[in-house]
Amino acid sequence: MPETVRSFAKINIGLCIGRLRPDGFHELRTVYQTIALHDVIRVEVKRGTGIEIRCADPRVPRDDSNTCYRMVDIAMAALKARGRAVVNIEKRLPVRGGLGGASSNAVAALVALERVLKKKLPGPEKLRIAAAVGSDLPLFLIGGTVLGLGRGEEVYPLPDMPALPWVIATPAIAISTPQAFRDWDARGQQPDRADARTAIAAKLTGSTCSDRITEFGRAVSAWLGSQYRDRIRSSSGVLAHGKGRAESPLLELVHTGIENDFEQVVFPQYPELRELKRVLECAGAVYASLSGSGSAIYGLFSSQRKAEQAVAKLRRQGTAALVTTTLTRLEYWKQVWRQQD
Ligand code: C5P
Repeated sequence: MPETVRSFAKINIGLCIGRLRPDGFHELRTVYQTIALHDVIRVEVKRGTGIEIRCADPRVPRDDSNTCYRMVDIAMAALKARGRAVVNIEKRLPVRGGLGGASSNAVAALVALERVLKKKLPGPEKLRIAAAVGSDLPLFLIGGTVLGLGRGEEVYPLPDMPALPWVIATPAIAISTPQAFRDWDARGQQPDRADARTAIAAKLTGSTCSDRITEFGRAVSAWLGSQYRDRIRSSSGVLAHGKGRAESPLLELVHTGIENDFEQVVFPQYPELRELKRVLECAGAVYASLSGSGSAIYGLFSSQRKAEQAVAKLRRQGTAALVTTTLTRLEYWKQVWRQQD
């Protein structure tokens, strides 16, 4: 029997790029958050051999460069399964948009395949296979708010946070993540004036790549600690201070000042993306940022009405945008398996 699942997108709330490691990856720190936008993945196993990828979107590869192909290839062997695996991808998320669509699709294909075959891989093995296919796959085996360490593949669930409205702008720009990392590295070799200032500041303060990574960790740890210290949890799920002030944990997280380093290389190449961030901020976003290496830009809003007004503004300017919400871990898994309409 075929299995159909939803494959959700993520955004990065802050992304700190560290040193280039001997394995060719960069050390990275980020907070991933799953959101309620999704593709639909349908998997079946027929008689025969091989893997077939079907997708109406010509930008999606059908060969072994497709993350679903690589995932199913490894998973079929790990599950000691035989047959011709057919993966149908209904693409709704932007391709190369920084929302993790291809990574999410591969994880959705894995969990659907397990159901089709009525076999399960142990959780740690699934995480290992996901990490072998790509750095931001494992987060989709956790869902909700997730801390990403290592090259982004080492994932730890963070406490769920009450949902707030998010606006996601998806400009028609495809950005290559490996290229964005290369551009990040090249920055150090040909410093512009801003870089030179950063370099001087780094010299003065002694701050290095690893210091920045440590600082990111400190900001997130301090935020996590503050969620529990000196506070009581109100019945609405909002964390309240003893003196009555209450703020959503999501707002508190973005107020730690964590930023996405990719903005420093992507915005100079695509000034229209910096402008989109500015539009969101002017429309009242509490926090706006590039997601991953882009091109999606998101804004966090304190009310649905403000978020809808921001979307209307972006659309009038010719940019695709919509209002969505974050998905808690429980909601993520409920929605992955929810019957298709
Ligand atoms: O793991 P993933 O397939 O997403 O990585 C694609 C490419 O992005 C890697 O080959 C590498 O060039 C770059 N990358 C990196 N550091 C990371 C993640 C990805 O340099 N932490």
